Amino acid sequence: MATKRPSEMSTETNGNKKGKEVRVWMDGCFDIVHFGHANALRQGKRMGDKLFVGVHSDEEITMHKGPPVFNQEERYRMVRAIKWVDEVIESAPYVTTLDTMDEYNIDFCVHGDDITTTADGQDTYQMVKDAGRYKECRRTQGVSTSDIVGRMLLVTKCHHHKGDNSSLDKHQTGEISSTAAGFNGSDSFSPWTGVSQFLPTTQKIIQFSEGREPNPGDTIVYCAGAFDLFHVGHLDFLEQAAKLGNFLIVGLHTDQVVNRYKGANFPIMNLHERTLSILACKYVDEVVIGAPYTVTKDLMEHFKVDVVVHGKTPIMDDVEGNDPYECPRSLGKFQQIESDNDMTTQVIIDRIIENRLLYEKRNKEKAQKENKIYESLQKQNQEA
Ligand code: CTP
Ligand code: C5P
Repeated sequence: MATKRPSEMSTETNGNKKGKEVRVWMDGCFDIVHFGHANALRQGKRMGDKLFVGVHSDEEITMHKGPPVFNQEERYRMVRAIKWVDEVIESAPYVTTLDTMDEYNIDFCVHGDDITTTADGQDTYQMVKDAGRYKECRRTQGVSTSDIVGRMLLVTKCHHHKGDNSSLDKHQTGEISSTAAGFNGSDSFSPWTGVSQFLPTTQKIIQFSEGREPNPGDTIVYCAGAFDLFHVGHLDFLEQAAKLGNFLIVGLHTDQVVNRYKGANFPIMNLHERTLSILACKYVDEVVIGAPYTVTKDLMEHFKVDVVVHGKTPIMDDVEGNDPYECPRSLGKFQQIESDNDMTTQVIIDRIIENRLLYEKRNKEKAQKENKIYESLQKQNQEA
């Protein structure tokens, strides 16, 4: 019998197996959705039965923090695609109110163990904290929207030329991490970012993975790519790909391979980071961590692949100048699909470059505000 994706099954129960349904609220900007956000949502879901995620509007974010990189429609779609999210509440208020919580019958609100403040420095969770309806999850260290924006700003300072591995090596070793480098000076460093580089562990992969295997009879779809800075274009592509079968395997090219065909400064996110972002997507069942560029007969037999797909972007030849999809094409198992979305990693970088000064200012102000709060919290702790 063909298996169902977890997203097609009834809501998983974690928090309260016998009694009343426990409803959890989380909210945020979710700009450039990354695996840190996904990990927060994963933890939030585990604290209850149903996870409601409030996503702020562009207007609210601009007012309190500066302009977001992705618009609200893109951010709503990205959060909706994370496998632990049950419902997205669009245009959620920046300050979490008890009214909002009551409107959705929420038991409590969850947020990472950092502090979020309004434009005038107030804790956005003060009301729910005072009402005893607030819990914390552990923030994922070494990744943040500011850090990713910083990596892209650094890219714009380097040359995009193929064959030069120097900057790739730095990405991989974490040398190119805006928070580590303090891309705009050390005052751009947020005290809650923790380690400068995300430290991948097998435990994290296990937590993100469903670990399910295909059943006999399942139609297995395979696609491969960089999936760098996982975005709405990728998402629309994966949604189409998933519809062609009932088990979707995504092959992620290694950093070296991506570097060969996208240029010296790519990927922006390393293989481990890209793995977690893809695993968090509700359309994906399995990830090949470091897939070969050429889709071989061996690979297709190994994973019992029925159909190999590629989206709307150009197909680059392999190192020998051959079509990487020659084998599935010759077997009549290749399909090119239309994502109907023009988003690419380069479009994101271009948006950042266009608004470079605004983002630099935004990141710097956010870090300065957080540093001040952090220092005063430390002072309070010492006095206590
Ligand atoms: N979050 C997390 N780990 C990270 C980044 C964010 O756990 N590395 C959590 C936040 O604590 C929050 C949720 O993800 O509970 C949504 O975060 P968001 O409002 O988008 O804002 P930021 O905390 O500003 O995230 P970032 O620093 O990446 O912009
Ligand atoms: O460019 P990258 O390797 O990350 O793309 C992974 C897959 O997503 C490719 O098959 C690509 O064609 C597809 N894609 C798409 N539409 C986009 C962006 C990517 O179909 N807007």
